Formats: sequence, C-alpha cells, structure tokens
Amino acid sequence: MATPLPRDAFALDKDVLWVMHCAEGPVPRVAAQAVARMMERELRPWQLSWKQDFLGLPERARAAGARVLGVDATDVTLTPTTSSGLVTLAQGLDLAPGDEVLLPLGEFPANAWPWLALTRRGVTVREVPLWEGHRAGRAAWESSPPPQVEPENALVEAIGPRTRVLAASWVRFQDGLRLNLEALGRVCRRRGVRFVVDGIQGAGTLVPDLEHVDAFATGGHKGLLAPQGLGLLWTTPELRAEMTPLGGWLSVEQGTDFARPSTDFDREWLSDGQRLEQGVPNLVAAAALAVSLELLADAGVETIAAHVDALEEKLLRRLSRIPSWRPEAARLETHRRTGRCGAILALHHDGAGPDGLDRWLRRGTEQGIYASAREGYLRVALHGWHDDRDIERIARWLAAD
Ligand SMILES: Cc1ncc(COP(=O)(O)O)c(C=O)c1O
Repeated sequence: MATPLPRDAFALDKDVLWVMHCAEGPVPRVAAQAVARMMERELRPWQLSWKQDFLGLPERARAAGARVLGVDATDVTLTPTTSSGLVTLAQGLDLAPGDEVLLPLGEFPANAWPWLALTRRGVTVREVPLWEGHRAGRAAWESSPPPQVEPENALVEAIGPRTRVLAASWVRFQDGLRLNLEALGRVCRRRGVRFVVDGIQGAGTLVPDLEHVDAFATGGHKGLLAPQGLGLLWTTPELRAEMTPLGGWLSVEQGTDFARPSTDFDREWLSDGQRLEQGVPNLVAAAALAVSLELLADAGVETIAAHVDALEEKLLRRLSRIPSWRPEAARLETHRRTGRCGAILALHHDGAGPDGLDRWLRRGTEQGIYASAREGYLRVALHGWHDDRDIERIARWLAAD
C-alpha cells in the first residue's frame, strides 16, 4: 500500500509500530542529517553564514510551517513550545482585571497555566464542560466520553459580557475530540472575543481552517515530526498589532543591519511574526524543523489527513467485530463520520481503570506496538506512514482479551 510518507523515511525498526505521535512524533532521517550538518558548521564557526544559517534557517522553517498550516509565512513566529506560544499570547494581550478567559474543561495544562497566571492580575479563568457528564481533574477517569453533541455549543453559550479570550485545543489530548474551528471562530469574531487555538494535536495530520481564528500555537514534536524544542505560533496581523510586542532585538526594523549602530533605539517594531520572536531561534532545532515540515508539505497535509481518516475507518470496522470493543467502535465511527476525529483514536476505558489500560499498553509493547494512555483513554494515533498491515496488527492486539 502506497502511503503519503514512506516508512523508510524514518528509522523505525521493522517490528516497531509507533502509534503515539500524540506524545512524541518520530523524527525523519533527513531531520537528523540536517542537525548533523548544522553541528558540523557549529564545530567550525567560520563556516557559519549569517545569511544562510542565522537568518536563512529560521526563514526556511517559517516558510515550511506556513505551507503545512496553509498560511502566510509573514504571520508565523518560531517559538520553542506550544506553551511558549501561549505564554506570549497571554502576556502580550492587554487583559485587565475583570476580563474573562474561557477554556473547555480538561485542557492540556499547556493551554491552562499561561492563562491561570493572569489571575494574579485579576483576570478570571473559567472552564466550561463540553457535554453532560464531562469531568476533569481528579474526576477525569469518571468522565463519560464525548457523546454525539456539538461541543462548540457549550462554549458559545458560556461567552459573557467580560469574555475577552476563548482558548481551546483543536484536537483534545485525552478524548481525541476535534473542535470545529470555523464555527467557534465565527461566533468569537462576531462577539469580539479573541479565539486562540492550541493546535499541536492536529498540526501535520489535519488542515486547519484558520479564517476566523486569531492565533494558533503548536510545538513541533508531535504530528510535525520535529525534535522537541521548536514549534510555530501563527497570529493574524490585527492581533499582533494589538499585542505588546514581546520580541527582542531581531523584532525591530533593520535589526540585522550592523552598519547602523545597534544601540540606536529609534526604530519601529516589525509588523510580521518576527515581532514576537525573542532573539535568534534555536538554529539546530530550526534545521530539523524546516526539513520535517518540508517532508509533510511535500506529501500534502490534505493527503495525509485523508489517509489517516481511511485507516481509522478500517480500524473501527475491525474493532466493531470484536464484541468488547463494539460500542466504542460505534461511538468513534459516528465521531469520525461527523468530522469529530483527528489523528487520535481515543478508546474510553469503560471501567477498566488505570490498571486495565496499563495491561493493554504492556501487551502492546510486548508485540512492538507503542501506544499511550491519558486520563481514561487508550490512544492510538495514526499518521502518513501507517498502512493496512499496521491496522491489522492493532486489531489483533486489541482482539486478545
Ligand atoms: C493539547 C496539547 N498541548 C500542548 C502539548 C505540549 O505542550 P508543549 O509543546 O508546551 O510542551 C501537548 C502534549 O504534550 C498537548 O497534548
């Protein structure tokens, strides 16, 4: 079976089935080679070039990121992590005491702590359950899984007169539910609410609809297949203009023109994404990120998304023939058909508890299958290099009761 990403682009051993890019994506060989080349130049700094390396590598990473997200490169900022992108937004937006930030209940903490830090300034943060029986925190394992509801409705209804920001994951890390960015963004724009997206669980495997979104933050180390430590923040020009420019010396006009005294501070801030970049980005990481993103963009994110969806359909069909998984397969198939699934198929523990999920994971690793579990869900994450044989292996693993 032809796959959008060739399996031999990665150094995955023959018997390893890696279905946990929702935790950590495998880095393609070309990324490791790009890092090695960069380190060779770092060993001999006279071989480093200001234009090609210091400026060129970040520029290449931003351009490839723009292709993967389907946006303009001028709106892309390189940030170390999802968290740092969200911290930049939380600190840069002019939020005052009494202003409110809405979060769906049970966000990954990368999209909670940057906003919770603002409560010191009197900003209110409110978590909104997305369905009846939705629980998080200590009660996460008691939560019912997402039913067939429009989870956006609860968020829209929660918007109040002091709501300034809605910050939500595109694809949720534990239950895998995918929110409709277009629907939420439209309402937010109409109501004057800034819509911020933690996009890491969808980036690289889904095409985002950012027309009505204000900001999108993602680390590079999951579906984007780069090493930890460098990711992307996308913002609209309007949002950047409104924010405190949290960048550094390269975020101003002629910042790299050393013919002009660097200590001349009579300059304008740049208006593009570099306005929010704090000095020279991690160049070793940029070398890797750029080629990982180019690999994805060349394969086509739309093609990868369709491939993942087709594999999910096959896996759910296989699981529907296993009596103990039948109800869960039916629930997830409805989600898949209605555009509610990203690349994570999150199977609810249904009373099995942490020990039950650990048993599944242990049995998986014994067979070379690496999956993950979070807050009551066994997560199987598919990507562009997986194929029908992988689906068969997963089905056989899950069939053994
Ligand atoms: C939804 C979500 N956001 C963010 C992260 C990671 O955050 P960061 O890139 O800041 O490490 C994860 C997983 O680690 C996640 O699942």
